[in-house]
Amino acid sequence: MDKLLITGGRPLEGEVRVSGAKNAALPIMCAALLTARPLQLTNVPMLMDVRTMAKLLAQMGVEVGEHSGGRIELRARAVTNPEASYELVKTMRASVLVLGPLLARCGQARVSLPGGCAIGARPVDQHLKGLQAMGATIAIEHGYMHAHASRLRGARIAMDLVTVTGTENLMMAAVLAEGTTVLENAAREPEVVDLAQCLVAMGARIESAGSEVIRIEGVRTLEGAAYGVMPDRIETGTFLAAAAAAGGRIRLTGAAPTALLATLDKLREAGARIKTGDSWIEIEMSGRPVAVSVRTAPYPDFATDMQAQFMALAAVGSGTAQITETIFENRFMHALELQRLGADISIHGNTAVVKGVERLQGAKVMATDLRASAGLAIAGLVAKGQTLIDRIYHLDRGYEALEKKLGALGARIERVN
Ligand code: UD1
Repeated sequence: MDKLLITGGRPLEGEVRVSGAKNAALPIMCAALLTARPLQLTNVPMLMDVRTMAKLLAQMGVEVGEHSGGRIELRARAVTNPEASYELVKTMRASVLVLGPLLARCGQARVSLPGGCAIGARPVDQHLKGLQAMGATIAIEHGYMHAHASRLRGARIAMDLVTVTGTENLMMAAVLAEGTTVLENAAREPEVVDLAQCLVAMGARIESAGSEVIRIEGVRTLEGAAYGVMPDRIETGTFLAAAAAAGGRIRLTGAAPTALLATLDKLREAGARIKTGDSWIEIEMSGRPVAVSVRTAPYPDFATDMQAQFMALAAVGSGTAQITETIFENRFMHALELQRLGADISIHGNTAVVKGVERLQGAKVMATDLRASAGLAIAGLVAKGQTLIDRIYHLDRGYEALEKKLGALGARIERVN
């Protein structure tokens, strides 16, 4: 199994290009199920989760053409097998995003329940409640959701909590439903907007995606489209946090600065100097960062997917930070691994109190989930000596060539087997 070996202590210098957003690419790939025409995507990050999604769609009968340079062509002439098996759903929860499109296109779907995952319970009750309001009947049998509907009907759906994939699933179901759907308490994440823009390019009628209330006018059929996936704001934030922790000066190109304003504010609070243009961000950090407190919440507030990286940053900061996690109940496993590197962290319910130390020390650590791995990589960059991160398959799920990109910025980092 691959591991990452990092020798800490070097500042980061140079320029890297941000990849396309994993969390936008995955739902957008599922949108291919909604039409018999081809969907041509560019800026798709070549990651394990994208490969898993391509495999899942291929199993359903979608023709998948992968080209170099982040281009994928998907064509669902016919959906022969509207099913997502446990084997794939358990490796990638986002597989549940096929449920809405399958119901809309085929009138039936059989999708494994995702079950728990390392960071918490993560139920899908809001997805189901919304689809039922649109006229679907859903039975849970042998760990699978069996959903049926002759044609979905538009409905007013008030979600009990803000869910990103829930909003996306319902939006994809609604675009082919009969009549108008209004999604209330919708997620406002930029990836929801990116999906909506792709659907609109396919002929869908969607208003005000990116606000709390999304209105969708169902249409009979959708066309194909060519669409470029938005830049990955979490990858962007991860490189910025790495530079803030390790010091130095880096420039990120192909980025979308307006999608990560909360992260940029917190980095400035940590002492970083940041400049932005339309599609680039520069960060410069000299001296020790200030440990900054964060509280995760749905967009536009501070992203839970940036929490582990900021915990690593605070671990070497001056002062004490309180890191409060409000989205997932069990997303502090990286804290224990950071302690192995010498971090001073105590957990009180959903808050981690991080007292910054002058220097971390390299050690062997274990990645527990995708973003936790990124937090450990940042800690490794600033730790004295060598850090060996095990189980980096988590990292490979969501970061394209992380070690190559960090290496290009001067970090001493290699993949070892
Ligand atoms: C998405 C992102 C993930 C990110 C998360 C929160 C993708 C592929 N993944 O995950 O990277 O960390 O948003 O920003 O886009 N919940 C329910 N019932 C539901 C649905 C959700 O109780 O039906 C709860 C979850 O357990 C969690 C909270 O709502 O506590 C938010 O989860 P949600 O926004 O749905 O996360 P995902 O869409 O799975």
